[in-house]
Amino acid sequence: MTSNPFGKLSDGRDTTIFTFRNKKGAAVSVTDLGAALVSIVVPDKNKAMADVLLGHDDAQGYVDDRSYLGFIVGRYGNRIAKGKFSLDGRSYQLEINDGENHLHGGSRGFHTKLWKSTVNANSPAESVTMRCISPDGDEGYPGKVVLDVTYSWNDNEELTIDYTGTTDAPTILNPTSHGYFNLTGDPRNKILDHELMIAADQFTPAGPGRIPTGESQMVEGTPLDFRSPKRISSGINDAYDQLQMARGYDHNWVIRNHDKTVRRAATVYEPKSGRFMEVLTDQPGVQFYTGNFLDGSLKGKGGIAYGYRSGLCLETQHFPDSPNQPRFPSVVLRPGETYRQTTKYRFSAKA
Ligand code: GLA
Repeated sequence: MTSNPFGKLSDGRDTTIFTFRNKKGAAVSVTDLGAALVSIVVPDKNKAMADVLLGHDDAQGYVDDRSYLGFIVGRYGNRIAKGKFSLDGRSYQLEINDGENHLHGGSRGFHTKLWKSTVNANSPAESVTMRCISPDGDEGYPGKVVLDVTYSWNDNEELTIDYTGTTDAPTILNPTSHGYFNLTGDPRNKILDHELMIAADQFTPAGPGRIPTGESQMVEGTPLDFRSPKRISSGINDAYDQLQMARGYDHNWVIRNHDKTVRRAATVYEPKSGRFMEVLTDQPGVQFYTGNFLDGSLKGKGGIAYGYRSGLCLETQHFPDSPNQPRFPSVVLRPGETYRQTTKYRFSAKA
């Protein structure tokens, strides 16, 4: 593991980038600014290494970013309708930062914080733990929350993200990792030829503002059916209202047989490079998003403009707007309880 300066914030604080390189030379970098994943360099079928993650070259890129590239977002990853929820008879108003709704914890959410990092040198794999202390009332959320996120990278090209969180008053918590992947290793390519599988029979349809209607709908017979691997391009432009509204995929799938153990939620295969990514999680849902808001105005690593559909996200999480949807699994966290999430992104390549 190496750590290097990643740039100063406007208030003078220093940021750091940590890089883990495994025996084969495959490497993952993360920064303490927003606990963001910065790069994932993995081999293709010919053992050629390339970076499969969208990101920025330095801390300033992350300060200026409005697309949440690689960040841990929260306290609530995804949307809360009108930024309102009630808990134990009290109502709370969060910031409105996405049309009429609250998105990704607000404009001063976890992604804007400088997390405190601790390197764990011991086996089985080297790791770094990032801690965010979010005070009572932060972005309108009740309770002081302490969230630890540990990144580890092993010799099997497996990135594990472990979360643990506690609170001193009843609250809601639903963080996620917002990495944008492009398995070609070149974000000038679109992600449309990637083949996706999502282990889900249902999704939660959304209405205006991308807020779920509260129902779960079968994927069968819709372009959201990824039960068997399928090219993303095959249905993305269908005249299907859910896709038209979002300008592509931007939906929550209900992971099959969710029982709080870590299970395979999705796979992605990119035929030209042969790169394959598996997503494993203990979360009930996954938001699959095809970079529909990227329009080339955001410049990332190496000054490359990130265009429409140049990256795909598989954000493992609870369902959007759960605090206002009684049929969705609960996101309430109480004093004495521990929020936990384990998500793994595992890489390989096949000819
Ligand atoms: C999530 C949301 C999208 C969008 C991106 C960030 O994936 O579901 O609608 O807000 O984050 O741009």
